[in-house]
Amino acid sequence: MLSGDTVCMATVTHQGLQVLYTRQQIADRVAEMGAQITRDLNGEKLVMIGVLKGAAPFLADLARAVQVDATFDFVATSSYGKGQRSSGAVKLIKDLDEPIEGKNVLVVEDILDTGLTLSYLRKLFLQQHPKTLRIAALLDKPSRRLEMIEADYVGFSIPNLFVIGYGMDYAERYRNLPDICLMAPEPPE
Ligand code: PRP
Repeated sequence: MLSGDTVCMATVTHQGLQVLYTRQQIADRVAEMGAQITRDLNGEKLVMIGVLKGAAPFLADLARAVQVDATFDFVATSSYGKGQRSSGAVKLIKDLDEPIEGKNVLVVEDILDTGLTLSYLRKLFLQQHPKTLRIAALLDKPSRRLEMIEADYVGFSIPNLFVIGYGMDYAERYRNLPDICLMAPEPPE
């Protein structure tokens, strides 16, 4: 779990944004996750399913950190009433291209927050009877959970902070920041 000290020690870059995890810290953790996933697969093939759009950079890096025969697929979801908070029902707006029956599936997410998205996707994917279904989430906010779901591989467990960069956005911006940064709270009117 992230300590308060870690946040205070974070450096300031990107037009005054506070960096929570640097690109090097992310790269090191992704390499460890890739090594663990490789070990767990024991030489078997893998289908990596990225959840658009936020997971795209993480999937690209994680895919190069796993040493297995891997293919990619992508889904996209939307949930109603999303601002800085996620809430409400999840809807599938882009389905898988290929069936996953009998395959080793790894769902790749940038962040596990309320768990609504991954609970919905897990249920959906299990209906197709994959051989295995695991979840990799770069960030996990366990304090926000509304649905009982855990990732099999977690990069960093964090408190309830609004994070941007490395795929994560605020109003679609900042996804291309190479570091994970904190979104400053909006000043009062
Ligand atoms: C984010 C994130 C997860 C989801 C997690 O996606 O990428 O998919 O929210 O939240 P939850 O656990 O509360 O369901 P978002 O819907 O913001 O779309 P994006 O990936 O396109 O930014």
